[in-house]
Amino acid sequence: MTGTNNPAPRLRAEDLTLSYDQRTVATHLGVDIPDRSFTVIIGPNACGKSTLLKALARMLKPRHGQVYLDGAAIASYRSREVARRLGLLPQSSTAPGGITVGDLVARGRYPHQGMLKQWSAEDEAAVVEAMRQTGVLDLADRPVDDLSGGQRQRVWLSMVLAQQTSLLLLDEPTTFLDIAHQVEVLDLCAELHARKGHTVVAVLHDLNQACRYATHLIVMRPGGTIAAEGAPADVMTAELVEDVFGLPCRIIDDPETGTPLMVPAAPKRFPHEDTEGGAPAAADTVMAEPR
Ligand SMILES: Nc1ncnc2c1ncn2[C@@H]1O[C@H](COP(=O)(O)OP(=O)(O)O)[C@@H](O)[C@H]1O
Ligand SMILES: [Mg+2]
Repeated sequence: MTGTNNPAPRLRAEDLTLSYDQRTVATHLGVDIPDRSFTVIIGPNACGKSTLLKALARMLKPRHGQVYLDGAAIASYRSREVARRLGLLPQSSTAPGGITVGDLVARGRYPHQGMLKQWSAEDEAAVVEAMRQTGVLDLADRPVDDLSGGQRQRVWLSMVLAQQTSLLLLDEPTTFLDIAHQVEVLDLCAELHARKGHTVVAVLHDLNQACRYATHLIVMRPGGTIAAEGAPADVMTAELVEDVFGLPCRIIDDPETGTPLMVPAAPKRFPHEDTEGGAPAAADTVMAEPR
């Protein structure tokens, strides 16, 4: 399994079949998550990104194949041990009714607690630091139910950060966030990756953000197969985007970063209904708002 120059990464999936009851989402799916990478997974809706992430975090048992974590089958670990090594931000979660932000984030410390271990200064510091990093410290005493979608998303991320794992799996961490907060969260992930050497795996929808932040890009296609993977500059082509998303586009250089920038082809112009009895007013209204 391990080449001499290429030791197995901490997290890898081999020949997975992933299913929900009768619905099979993926077969023969294998991925290696390069250690200390910022890996971004992209792909169209329902292609199986969340399902793959769940399998990598042992939230979904593969029907066939194995996920390996630190050299052992992930199924062989106790759940607390998995949670000490790997944190998952699921695509959606429901907070217990009435819980405050501080108490929810504190639940991220669960894997570090034990029957004999009391809440420590270290636990408290981890919780405060995680809330500070995601900008929710001011919200600590507020009920989670009262927050906006974007605030809530940052609270969940905070809970995962409080877990203090060096492997982070984040399913659409930027959902619900305005553009400034999206950049803030991605910058934070990039910092954890660059400064602390954490391995970050994130599902993103914005291909240009994916190309900016990813050191390793995994492109999934409908049917749960891998269409391409590698450095964004090597992977992101107009052909790939058209093939996987069905979207004609151009790829140019991002003027800020030099990474691939995907520009969708201009929308088709509807033939202008002339004055001869059509409905010009309605057609004009459509044309005036191309987005
Ligand atoms: N809990 C579930 N039960 C049954 N089918 C599911 C469940 N979750 C996801 N699916 C189906 O599995 C497929 C992949 O879903 P998902 O991994 O969530 O896609 P993505 O994250 O790429 O949008 C979809 O067809 C979806 O409808
Ligand atoms: Mg998903």
